[in-house]
Amino acid sequence: MIPAPYRVRSRRPDRADTVTLTLEPVEGTCPPFLPGQFTMLYAPGVGEIPISVSGHARSGGYVQTVRAVGPVSRALCRARRGDIVGVRGPFGTHWELSRARGMDVVVAAGGLGLAPLRPVIRELVAHGARYGRISLIAGTRTPATLIYPRELARWGRDLDVQVTVDHPDRTWTGPTGLITKLVARIVFDPGRTYAFVCGPELMMRATAGELLRRGVPAGRIALSLERNMKCGIGRCGHCQLGPLFTCLDGPVLTYDRVAALLEVRQL
Ligand SMILES: Cc1cc2nc3c(=O)[nH]c(=O)nc-3n(C[C@H](O)[C@H](O)[C@H](O)COP(=O)(O)OP(=O)(O)OC[C@H]3O[C@@H](n4cnc5c(N)ncnc54)[C@H](O)[C@@H]3O)c2cc1C
Ligand code: FES
Repeated sequence: MIPAPYRVRSRRPDRADTVTLTLEPVEGTCPPFLPGQFTMLYAPGVGEIPISVSGHARSGGYVQTVRAVGPVSRALCRARRGDIVGVRGPFGTHWELSRARGMDVVVAAGGLGLAPLRPVIRELVAHGARYGRISLIAGTRTPATLIYPRELARWGRDLDVQVTVDHPDRTWTGPTGLITKLVARIVFDPGRTYAFVCGPELMMRATAGELLRRGVPAGRIALSLERNMKCGIGRCGHCQLGPLFTCLDGPVLTYDRVAALLEVRQL
C-alpha cells in the first residue's frame, strides 16, 4: 500500500519534543476516521510509523500529535508548513463510545495517551447529556511534559478533570504521584461505568487493576495497545500479541481480552 501525499497545513509546537500537525491530502478528501484509529505516517526518506488521529481539522484533514523519540518521529516533528508527508490509513479498531452511552465515564490518560483520547474527550464535552458523570484523569512526568494544557483547562469547565504529575516543579499546585491515586478520588458507579484508558502499558495495567478493584468489569475497560508496528494492515506480524495482531484486532481492546497478554515482550 503506497502512502498518499499529504501537505502539512499547520504545525503547533506543544512541548519541547512534541508537535501537533494538521495534515491535508494533496488531492481529494481524506478518509473518515473513528476515535482511536491511527495512520501510518511516512517521513520521506526516513521511514513510517503509526500515529493516532487526534482529530479532524475544520478545513478537512487530520490532526496528529507526534513526540520526537527516534529517527522517524523526529523527522515528522521537524516538518514545516507546506512540507509533504505520506499517509496510509486510518487503520485499527476504535473507542466504542456507543457502549458508554447512559453510563458514568472514566477517561484515563498517561503522558501522550491523551492524544488518542482527544476525540473521545471532545465527543464527551460536546454531548455530555448522553452520558452520566464524566471524569478525565491524566498523569504526566512533569508539568512541562503535559500536552494540551489549554484544552485541559477548557475541558475542565464541562468535565471533572484532574491531573497528577510524577515530579512537580515550584509552579505545580495540583496532585502528585501515580494516576492510580486519582482513580480512588473520582466519583462513579462501578456497575454502570465505562472506562477509556491510554498510556504506557505499566500505567494501563495499574489503572485497569484499580478500576477492577473498584468494581468496573474488565469488559468495560477499553485500552489502546501501542505495540511496535511495521505494516499496519496485518501482513508482517510485527505487532503480534499472543493470538492478536494489534494493528487489526487493536489498538483498542477491552481488558478482558488482553490482561493475560500484557506480559508479552514487544518484537
Ligand atoms: C497504534 C499506535 C498509535 C500511536 N500513536 C502515537 C501518537 O499519537 N503520537 C506519538 O508520538 N506516538 C504514537 N505512537 C508511538 C510511535 O509510533 C513511536 O513513537 C514511533 O514508532 C517511534 O519511531 P521512531 O522511528 O521515531 O523511533 P524508534 O527508534 O523506532 O523508537 C525510539 C524509542 O521509542 C520506543 N518506541 C517505539 N515505538 C513505540 C511504541 N509504539 N510505544 C512505545 N514506545 C515505542 C522504542 O522502543 C525506542 O525506545 C503510536 C504507536 C502505535 C502503535
Ligand atoms: S503491523 Fe504488521 S501485522 Fe500488524
